[in-house]
Amino acid sequence: MCGIVGYVGDEAAGPILLDGLRSLEYRGYDSAGVAILSDNGDISITKRAGKLDALVQAFSSNGASGHVGMGHTRWATHGAPTDLNAHPQTDCKGDIVVIHNGIVENYLDLKRDLSASGHEFRSETDTEVIAHLVERHIGDGHALPEAVRLMANEIRGAHAIVVMSRQQADTLITTRIGNAGGVVVGYGEGATFIASDLPALLPHTRRVVFLADGEIAVARKESVSYIDQQGKSVEYEPTTVPYDPVSAAKGPYKHFELKELMEQPESVLDTVRGRVNFETLEISLEDVPFSDAEFAAIDRVALVGMGTSVSAQMIGCTYMEQLAGIPAQHDYASEFRYRRPVLDGNTLVVSVSQSGETVDTLAAMEEAREAGARQITICNTIGAQSTRVAEGVIYTRCGPEIAVASTKTFSASVVALYLLACKIGRARGYLSDEHLGRALGDLARMPQLIGEALKCAPAVSRLAVQFSHSRNFLYLGRGVSYPIAMEGALKLKELSYIHAEGYPAGEMKHGPIALIDYELPVVAIAPRDHLFEKMLSNIEQVKTRQGIVVAIGEQGDPDLDGKVDKLLYVPRAPELLSPLVTVIPCQLLAYHIAVQRGCDVDQPRNLAKTVTVE
Ligand code: AGP
Repeated sequence: MCGIVGYVGDEAAGPILLDGLRSLEYRGYDSAGVAILSDNGDISITKRAGKLDALVQAFSSNGASGHVGMGHTRWATHGAPTDLNAHPQTDCKGDIVVIHNGIVENYLDLKRDLSASGHEFRSETDTEVIAHLVERHIGDGHALPEAVRLMANEIRGAHAIVVMSRQQADTLITTRIGNAGGVVVGYGEGATFIASDLPALLPHTRRVVFLADGEIAVARKESVSYIDQQGKSVEYEPTTVPYDPVSAAKGPYKHFELKELMEQPESVLDTVRGRVNFETLEISLEDVPFSDAEFAAIDRVALVGMGTSVSAQMIGCTYMEQLAGIPAQHDYASEFRYRRPVLDGNTLVVSVSQSGETVDTLAAMEEAREAGARQITICNTIGAQSTRVAEGVIYTRCGPEIAVASTKTFSASVVALYLLACKIGRARGYLSDEHLGRALGDLARMPQLIGEALKCAPAVSRLAVQFSHSRNFLYLGRGVSYPIAMEGALKLKELSYIHAEGYPAGEMKHGPIALIDYELPVVAIAPRDHLFEKMLSNIEQVKTRQGIVVAIGEQGDPDLDGKVDKLLYVPRAPELLSPLVTVIPCQLLAYHIAVQRGCDVDQPRNLAKTVTVE
């Protein structure tokens, strides 16, 4: 979750950029940098590993001045947090300067290609290829905005980028690709600002434009123009955002629920950030002090949690079996704590808790501690009680989740469990290099795929109008989609107060099939995985009994198109990670139905964000 700021105007850029970075420091803090374009066309770059203070000190002693510039706080993905790897990154001659939030999924291929044509790389970052690609397109005779557009079409993944060039000293270019976090353009008096988040802009202006996926802004001090990915011009009128911090934190969204739901490409990226070296296949879980030998000694994994964390851990259970080759079980913490589970020093208890304060989960952890089991917790809240009990912590790093019904912490927990399973699988010698490389490559694609899945939002919103009066819903899934059926039903209950059940699809004919009639919407989670044909049979069984089938499947799936009543599209994703895309329409459906029904989406009745009583 890197922080990005840009300024073009009449004032000294340095202090404005450093103040902006200060307000974004929570987004990343392993290194920071600024680049200032002086009036005589020189670019001065100051970068420091460590906290922002180190950069502020270095900047004050180098005296760089100018009226255009950019700044970045980094949370490393590729390359250690060193001065050299901090952003901005530059092209060969230092003419093109880039800051970036995201992962360039195909950076190795691009780097090889650029190196072969003579580009020299200085850092270990994926970001540096962006500067070199822009350099290449400018060398081919393209103007800076076009060079940025061509670059944006070459890199894979989800990104927020700002580019500056010595050759176009009055301009900053910024683009957003997919959903690796936002880009906001702020309209000041004789100045234009760019930031990854509103707090950096609000001291200067409340008139802003939020860039959409694929758009490019060409920012000058008196004007901003916009083009899309095809180079067609886009018209924008700035909107005025409220100043109070809570409303401002919602950005362009009406509810935190929707904002957090839409943040998932970025929050998933943040969970992975800095923990995977995609070249050496090393996974570093910084707060998990287990040696490979200790991981290898574990002979069983028991996962515990409550609510949405149960849905995540159910998927995690599959990961432990398939990626680590280790027997695994999962349970509600409220059951686990009382059923005297058989645990010993070779059992790893993995608790999942967004808050880290859920009383049942803490009690289950206590049970595990007394039995001498090893413990790792997956948590979003720094310093929470669960993180003090467990020996190891994987923070999901989603930032605050304010809406009561969890969204982004669900997907981030799934990703944390995936990383843990890969780590254990590697330590146990279960995953070959090839298998691990594939598994990690799959993970790197997920922010982009989740961003694509979010494109179903308008279709889901239309569907919600149709189904907002339904009294019951049945959700069905198989394999890793079964927990998504559970989660979809839970979200619908929480947000819209409609009764819903999530079932493994194979269990349907053992009872729930009696519920099916022409009034019952059945949401079938049907990605094209190895259980797809089984799922199709279940869909047939529902259709035969006049049930209404809403399928979540792949675009243009010939077996679903025409067979089901409604088809919500998600992109094809690697099977084990498909829950990260199939959950999106489920979350959106619950959200939009709740909005239709006039429910209090961010604070549903009777619910508390953290349940600290039994
Ligand atoms: C999720 O939408 C709910 N708010 C609830 O089920 C929640 O997941 C559960 O209370 C567990 O909370 P935790 O993850 O903070 O432990």
